[in-house]
Amino acid sequence: MFAHKNIVSSANILRDAVKNRVAIGAFNFTNMEIIQAIVAGANELYTPVILQASSSAIKYMGFGYIRAMVSVAAEQSDVPLVLHLDHGHDFEICKQAIDNGFSSVMIDASSLDFKENIAITKEVVDYASKYGVSVEAELGTLAGVEDEVSVAEGKAFYTDQNQAQEFIEKTGISSLAVAIGTSHGVNKGKTGNPKLSIETLKKIKEKVGDFPLVLHGASSVYADAVEKCNTYGANIQNAYGITDSDIREAIQNGIAKVNVDTDIRIAFLGAVREYLANNKSSIDMRKYLGAGRDMAKEMVKRRIKTFL
Ligand code: G3H
Ligand code: 13P
Ligand code: ZN
Repeated sequence: MFAHKNIVSSANILRDAVKNRVAIGAFNFTNMEIIQAIVAGANELYTPVILQASSSAIKYMGFGYIRAMVSVAAEQSDVPLVLHLDHGHDFEICKQAIDNGFSSVMIDASSLDFKENIAITKEVVDYASKYGVSVEAELGTLAGVEDEVSVAEGKAFYTDQNQAQEFIEKTGISSLAVAIGTSHGVNKGKTGNPKLSIETLKKIKEKVGDFPLVLHGASSVYADAVEKCNTYGANIQNAYGITDSDIREAIQNGIAKVNVDTDIRIAFLGAVREYLANNKSSIDMRKYLGAGRDMAKEMVKRRIKTFL
């Protein structure tokens, strides 16, 4: 049913991860080079990996290319791959992803009220379970921009532990994204790295036990990677992410899936800019995209190493 036998749902992988107090990296992709970078990095560390595409990334690539590229990646991979829809905002996009071979979907109805969130999530779970597809949902609100959903920074609110327990029971999801102080993108803090609310996470874990939790907005936004972009002509300011030690502590407290997009973007951009700055007469895209791909792979490995 999925395009290749190495493409699997995330349910078992995340359940094992949470029991072993490790997390699986979930990396966003938008083209062939990033798929190759993610899969090569995961293979070198011999760990399963989640390849995820947002709805805007799907618009950019098209389901056909995604399915074809990821099935080739799976054929060449020694580790299981999950093909996951990131931030599906309604039933229809989740259904389309499932019908196009995705093995896992996220229904993000976190901007709706609790009851509506449960209803739409349940509808997705009912459909997905017929095909062995795992479902992630979200409770609480991250600061910043969630794909096509904007949330004013001050209005961010953390996930409530009682709601989390009820939500899991009523929907039958296989993982839950929680809001504990992260936000998407490059500016996670105004003057420094934001602290995660491990306290909130512990309260959730007390209620839900070893249920797999997901951390969105988890890029570390490493200063050296940002500096490289800026050295070669970018202007990325107030760039702060989640520290590796906070990520490790979150994993010890139930986070089983860590979402990373921004770190790959920064790594790729820095390498492309450096190549172009040093090779001003070059017109060969394989050279600069290749440099970006190599650096993206190194970033994938750097992040996965903090999750294990
Ligand atoms: O969750 C947000 C991801 O970084 C995806 O961003 O909608 O620009 O692909 P995107
Ligand atoms: P970052 O912007 O921190 O990489 O988060 C990505 C993410 O949560 C994708 O769903
Ligand atoms: Zn996200």
